[in-house]
Amino acid sequence: MTEAQQQRTHVLRGPLLSFLNDPGEGDSPDPGSVLHLEDGAIWIEGGHIRAIGDYRELAPSLPQGIEVVDYSGKLMMPGFIDSHVHYVQLDIMASYGRQLLDWLNEYTFPEECRFAQQAHAENVAEAFLDEQLRVGTTTAQVFCTSHPVSVDTFFAAARQRGLRMLAGKVLMDRNAPEGLTDTVADGIRDSERLIGDWHGKDRLGYTLTPRFAPTSTAAQLDATGGILRNAPDLHLQTHLSENQGEIAWVAELFPDCQDYLGVYERYGLVGPRSTFAHGIHLTQEMRNRLAAAGANVAFCPTSNLFLGSGLFDRQACRDAGLNTTLASDVGGGTDLSGLATLKAAYQVGQLLGQPLTAWQGFYRLTLGNARALHLDAHIGSLRAGAEADIVVLDPRATPLLERRSARTRNLAEQLFALMMLGDDRTVFATWANGRCVHRRQTPAPLA
Ligand code: GUN
Ligand code: ZN
Repeated sequence: MTEAQQQRTHVLRGPLLSFLNDPGEGDSPDPGSVLHLEDGAIWIEGGHIRAIGDYRELAPSLPQGIEVVDYSGKLMMPGFIDSHVHYVQLDIMASYGRQLLDWLNEYTFPEECRFAQQAHAENVAEAFLDEQLRVGTTTAQVFCTSHPVSVDTFFAAARQRGLRMLAGKVLMDRNAPEGLTDTVADGIRDSERLIGDWHGKDRLGYTLTPRFAPTSTAAQLDATGGILRNAPDLHLQTHLSENQGEIAWVAELFPDCQDYLGVYERYGLVGPRSTFAHGIHLTQEMRNRLAAAGANVAFCPTSNLFLGSGLFDRQACRDAGLNTTLASDVGGGTDLSGLATLKAAYQVGQLLGQPLTAWQGFYRLTLGNARALHLDAHIGSLRAGAEADIVVLDPRATPLLERRSARTRNLAEQLFALMMLGDDRTVFATWANGRCVHRRQTPAPLA
């Protein structure tokens, strides 16, 4: 083995959990859906997992003298995935007192105007990625702004860190400040240039990103659908049926369309790689149409609570066979952490009489999101051949969590305590592309 190979070969030893399939909604996971090893090992070579298994079984085949990173007492899982987040809204998180449309006008659009400047975009992109890794999120589908430089900057920063990321330039040619709007021609030209420069480069992928129906003309949506038709391996994300004021506005702007979803359907934007953020106020018939297209709806619970948008009906989506993904939607969301997202998702579920099990929650955050985004060939599970993106959770991260973890009687209770009491401190380490990219600082002892 060369020295370079040796430097990129690691063995992580400790408890591990990964999903093989959807565990279902029951208190116990469906048979065969979970891989849990008390004393597991992940053998990493380069950016990939070479082998995984029980440590004692794998030990004889490990390279001589290889250093073993000891994560005993921790819990290793696939890196978390955030299916919908705005990196450019990091600095306006927690802006007080407005619902969607006023929040956009008062806080969001003025902040997004600043991303015409590369230096600002670089500063925020680095801070955003630092935060993502601190909370164990290794892949996200990311809104930039309408400025191409906001996209170049984000992709360059993600590539430098070896991350798998989806992102794209926001398309918006009306109903927003001049500093944010593009035109049909410029939006398409810039998107095509960015696709050429970034799509498929290392671990990066391009997501076409019309902001939402009110900020695009019919001509812009039509042109976006044209790109997608010619390049069906691209992703697409936008917003759908988040807020009643928004829905009424769409009905005014597109009186010929059957409903809000009908706008996106008319222009060819609803396909298997399309993510629709929110989807709170949908009829079952709309859910059926989304399901038939193979699209996914991103459940963004902290955002829905913060902006007062409503309660997402996860069960109705499941009944329709519609894929749901989990997302932070920062800066409408109040937390980048996947654990915080699970906590809010559980609370929303409780209000609707549909509590989220920890099994279902952690499945969605990992393999479920990977499948819905068509990334499961690469990420979302711990298995030989997968990319080595791993989060290491610490069930004793805080004195309180340590007390609670001591009382748990089985893995289901432990996972539930992690999702309800966990936060950034719970993330002991994060690995991406086979490298340790975040290690929690141990607080200095008091003098
Ligand atoms: N709808 C259109 N733009 C946005 C946005 O930036 N955040 C949220 N939550 N909804 C939107
Ligand atoms: Zn959003």
